[in-house]
Amino acid sequence: MALLAGLIPMLSIIFISFGSETAEVHQLDEDSKKCFFCHGSPVYEYVDTITGEKAVMKMYNELQIDPVEYSLATHGGFLCIDCHAPEYHEHPHPVSTKFETMYSCMDCHGGDETYASFNFELIEEEFMKSVHATELGDEFTCWACHDPHIYRLSDKSPGQLINRVARNNAACLTCHGDINNYAVLIEKELPDLIKSHSWLPNQSLHFRKVRCIDCHAATNDSILVAHQILPASESVRNCVDCHSTNSILMGSLYKHQVAEKRSKLGFYNGVIMNEAYVIGANRNYYLNVASVVIFILTLTGIAIHASLRIIHRKRTTHGK
Ligand code: HEC
Ligand code: HEC
Ligand code: HEC
Ligand code: HEC
Ligand code: HEC
Ligand code: HEC
Ligand code: HEC
Repeated sequence: MALLAGLIPMLSIIFISFGSETAEVHQLDEDSKKCFFCHGSPVYEYVDTITGEKAVMKMYNELQIDPVEYSLATHGGFLCIDCHAPEYHEHPHPVSTKFETMYSCMDCHGGDETYASFNFELIEEEFMKSVHATELGDEFTCWACHDPHIYRLSDKSPGQLINRVARNNAACLTCHGDINNYAVLIEKELPDLIKSHSWLPNQSLHFRKVRCIDCHAATNDSILVAHQILPASESVRNCVDCHSTNSILMGSLYKHQVAEKRSKLGFYNGVIMNEAYVIGANRNYYLNVASVVIFILTLTGIAIHASLRIIHRKRTTHGK
């Protein structure tokens, strides 16, 4: 029993790695602070340079950027005018700024060796096959889900799973939960997601524990995050696809941990033991623990037996 008590903390050291979000904090640049003067808060002051008269103005919600989120963002080290026209320093902003062409991810990351591990080219290929690209055309870009000002590479440690799912799903809900953004792209009624998913029991739990893309995107072994969003009719609906020992989540949501655990320990059951507990996927857990315990007990038994024999033999040789 003492052995078992010792084994449990040992197992948890192996399987629980406490995660805390570790995004790099970028210093806000003076040049960008000028933009934040207006875009960083709900109100800003407008000064008439001739009369000196001041007016407090309201900044539109959609044009506000949270400076804290920006400083944590993957691209938060950039100046605003690295991506936007320098003419934005004039205000009111000149009409020409309305027609600026924006960089795409591929303009900067395409063919760049530094980012080869992300496989940007393949992600783009998959994206081009998604319902969004095929149905909505050029208007729908990578930026639709990767908000340029707040997107950051997710922390994939198990302790951050809930946060990661929430951030991922929020990206989809900017449109699928907000008619204003949806309507920019298509003249169509916004489907009520609660109704469309009424077949799914415990909906709010599922939406907190799995990502939209885990049901809605075709997985691809060569990329970490699936980007080919399928039509609703081809999406995962079968409970057993997730609630089984060979859960599809091993190839999607838990992919990162599966890869890590495999390389570190040579097996991956640990992935689904704590954070990522899925009913059905880990029914062998107690069996596995039991077999480890039996194995260790057997080893100990053999060791004790062997040492007793050695002691015994020494005693008997002494006796002679
Ligand atoms: C004095 C306040 C003020 C400052 C400073 C300011 N902006 Fe703006 N900006 C606005 C307002 C008001 C709007 C909305 C009206 C418009 O589009 O001109 C806006 C709109 C924008 C838009 C959106 C255009 C669109 O319709 O999609 C961008 C992009 C933008 N600003 C970038 C910048 C950048 C980059 C800077 C700094 C170089 C900056 N702004 C500085 C007030 C400001
Ligand atoms: C990495 C490139 C990049 C940087 C850096 C960047 N932006 Fe943007 N910004 C974009 C893109 C791309 C869009 C258009 C987004 C879209 O099409 O959905 C945009 C859109 C905007 C808009 C319109 C509202 C919106 O969110 O769509 C405002 C306002 C804006 N940017 C202001 C800023 C300010 C202020 C800064 C600096 C604090 C900044 N941007 C830094 C790429 C960038
Ligand atoms: C204007 C050029 C530019 C554009 C456009 C751009 N990036 Fe980046 N990106 C960079 C640079 C430079 C870095 C490195 C930043 C750093 O290390 O602070 C980076 C970093 C990244 C990283 C993090 C790499 C890491 O190891 O931490 C990811 C992921 C990424 N970009 C994805 C994207 C995506 C997705 C898009 C489009 C939605 C995009 N980028 C658009 C220039 C760009
Ligand atoms: C329909 C939404 C959507 C679109 C469109 C989209 N992405 Fe993504 N992308 C995501 C989500 C969700 C993630 C996962 C983010 C996370 O885990 O934090 C992601 C992650 C990524 C990553 C990081 C992978 C990693 O290791 O975490 C890269 C790189 C990337 N996308 C590139 C692109 C490029 C390039 C495009 C356009 C060709 C694009 N994305 C278009 C939703 C989208
Ligand atoms: C910028 C807005 C926007 C974002 C962000 C977005 N979508 Fe969409 N999505 C749309 C629009 C608009 C349609 C409708 C296309 C149509 O009906 O032709 C659509 C269609 C779909 C469909 C097909 C529905 C059907 O009836 O077949 C699915 C599934 C879907 N989106 C899932 C997602 C997921 C998952 C994400 C996040 C990873 C996401 N979307 C992010 C705007 C968006
Ligand atoms: C457990 C799997 C699962 C999850 C998680 C899930 N969906 Fe679905 N979703 C489906 C299936 C299956 C359908 C098709 C339902 C039908 O046709 O009756 C669907 C339908 C849809 C549709 C089409 C709605 C319509 O009525 O036309 C959209 C859009 C959509 N989902 C978006 C999302 C978004 C956004 C999320 C994340 C917040 C999400 N889904 C999470 C499986 C899922
Ligand atoms: C995309 C993968 C996926 C699909 C598909 C899926 N589930 Fe789940 N389900 C999960 C995850 C992940 C959890 C959360 C387990 C946890 O952390 O408690 C969960 C939780 C549950 C729970 C909650 C148990 C509790 O603790 O209250 C029930 C019940 C359930 N699922 C039934 C179903 C049924 C029935 C279906 C099919 C109609 C289904 N699930 C489809 C992944 C899935």
